[in-house]
Amino acid sequence: MAKLIGCVGTSHIPAIGGAIHKGLQQEPYWKPFFDGFPPVHAWLAQKRPDVAVIFYNDHGLNFFLDKMPTFAIGAAAQYNNADEGWGIPTLPPFQGEVDLSWHIVNALIDKDFDVVTCQEMLVDHSCTLPLKLLWPQGPCPVTVVPICINTVQFPLPKASRVYALGKAVGEAIASWDSSKTVAVIGSGGLSHQLDGERAGHINKEFDLQFLESLNSNPEWATQFSIHELVEKAGTQGIELLMWLAMRAALTSGPQPGVRKVHSNYHIPISNTATGLLALEKTGT
Ligand code: DHB
Ligand code: FE
Repeated sequence: MAKLIGCVGTSHIPAIGGAIHKGLQQEPYWKPFFDGFPPVHAWLAQKRPDVAVIFYNDHGLNFFLDKMPTFAIGAAAQYNNADEGWGIPTLPPFQGEVDLSWHIVNALIDKDFDVVTCQEMLVDHSCTLPLKLLWPQGPCPVTVVPICINTVQFPLPKASRVYALGKAVGEAIASWDSSKTVAVIGSGGLSHQLDGERAGHINKEFDLQFLESLNSNPEWATQFSIHELVEKAGTQGIELLMWLAMRAALTSGPQPGVRKVHSNYHIPISNTATGLLALEKTGT
């Protein structure tokens, strides 16, 4: 059976793509953000996952307001990065892990998650920037399964439902008949609000509590309603749902322990509180 090695949560602000393109990683503005990554690179180089299952949120590129699935899973052989017009350089296509995609789709539908299956799916910065941040050198060494969770148009899925989805995805990965190793990525947040009266809203106290909960008490955020989470983290900070799904995926198996590999938190990049958290799965 496949082996789930752990997870990495990271922010996905489009300006990061511009900074990578221009080589600004060591500039004072960017350094505190990019300096979080080398310990995670070292861990990934040691663990060498074959596949990345990515919880991300499309921002109106592949799904617009007229058709908005709550949960959508990519089952494509290749994913093209088209982004949604920010002008950041696009990355070469990413290779899909089709067999795992269908295994997850079947397992989820069997557990009453009626997901949308996408045999073609354009992906935006939310899916592609984490891959570039985690594997900055050369072509991306992992194949991918993108799982999109709607955080763009209400109604959004409840945190408890997202947690259940993540757990079911983790169980599906663990039951995949393959000798490959898999890492789970959560892309989004942390607290930020890009528009409206509260534009610029950042909530450091909540973010740090949320990061700590992922380490020690992963269901903590499920106590809050979506509106409470939006109030705390901001209208776009609700992207933290990706981190919740990611962490829930690690609770599969009889010994669902984790070890913190590394974390980083920096305010702000653009209008966003940035976070990074890598956890290694210790149980089997
Ligand atoms: C920003 C953050 C996001 O999560 C996003 O998708 C787009 C922009 C920002 O802070 O600029
Ligand atoms: Fe976003």
